[in-house]
Amino acid sequence: MKITKTTQSRLKDVDFSNLVFGTQFSDHMLIAEYSDGSWSEPEIKPYGPLSFTPAMHTLHYGQAIFEGQKAYYMENGEIGIFRPEANAKRLNHSASRMFMPEFPVEWFMEGIKALVDLDREWVPKEANHSLYLRPFMFGSSEFVAARPSEKYTLCIITSPVGPYYAGDVKVKIEETFTRSAAGGVGSTKCAGNYGGAFYATDQARKEGYTQVIWTDHANHELIEESGTMNIGFIIDDTFITPPLSERILAGITRESILTLLRDRNIVKVEERPIKVDEVVKAAQEGRLKEAFGMGTAAVISPINVIGYRGTDFKIPTPMDGYAMRIKKELTDLRSGAAEDPYGWMLKF
Ligand SMILES: Cc1ncc(COP(=O)(O)O)c(C=O)c1O
Repeated sequence: MKITKTTQSRLKDVDFSNLVFGTQFSDHMLIAEYSDGSWSEPEIKPYGPLSFTPAMHTLHYGQAIFEGQKAYYMENGEIGIFRPEANAKRLNHSASRMFMPEFPVEWFMEGIKALVDLDREWVPKEANHSLYLRPFMFGSSEFVAARPSEKYTLCIITSPVGPYYAGDVKVKIEETFTRSAAGGVGSTKCAGNYGGAFYATDQARKEGYTQVIWTDHANHELIEESGTMNIGFIIDDTFITPPLSERILAGITRESILTLLRDRNIVKVEERPIKVDEVVKAAQEGRLKEAFGMGTAAVISPINVIGYRGTDFKIPTPMDGYAMRIKKELTDLRSGAAEDPYGWMLKF
């Protein structure tokens, strides 16, 4: 792999005790180009502007996908990337649904490791900090015609991030807007899924909520996701999360949590459709013990209010509850404080 190192590191300009999520980028980036039916070998070079013309395909037709994952500074001084292969595979799932070329998983793995290794000083050492990794791919042909791009660019950039603190998470069960529909692209990380959600989220904010709980497109009866996280509930003594479908993003945090909960017998697990009515009834009857989002950014984000048709239900967020316990299990595995029986960390 060709590597061109920066001659002017920006590391010394970074205040690691005051990081704002996704606003500062490490010294290097990885780039690969696709044309004439094949990918060029990825190359690492100094982080900097890309050049393109106003006719670049993705600006018009939105063949754009991305990933989000993290590298951690581990207790023994190694760097560990959490489940990178899962992200490589999900990127390719998004690529195939968006009619974009898949990127070889071996190149992805080799490339992301080489990039993080080169910028290893950028991985924050403080607890609960990490280096956020952002692979993305877009159609880079120069034409305006509604047909697939012929050229594509794959890029990986990285950004040091601090602990995620969401404050009070007050979510509204959304019954007007939808994030995804049957036959659509909800199971992909295509850029449009996020662009399409901003308006609905802003409307909820104006009503005093921080996020929405997405429901199904047809009848708004089934719970799907919470903002950009998968969602789980503890009702009575069972953890319930909606099953994956073409409308839901297959979160790697969700899958990791399900694995831990099942293998360690922490709580009874049900992966099944869950109706809004069931959640509301459980909240009314005091049987909704916890509710939380699951995703790379926050790992677990406890929800303390669920709003439904004008009524706000307060949800407990116990410090010794399941959400906090799961978060600790995953955090310990990632930092090396606990064993990693699944080989989830790519360490170097
Ligand atoms: C819509 C959506 N759902 C769920 C998730 C959680 O996925 P992961 O755990 O892989 O970060 C994300 C974040 O990537 C997301 O954007």
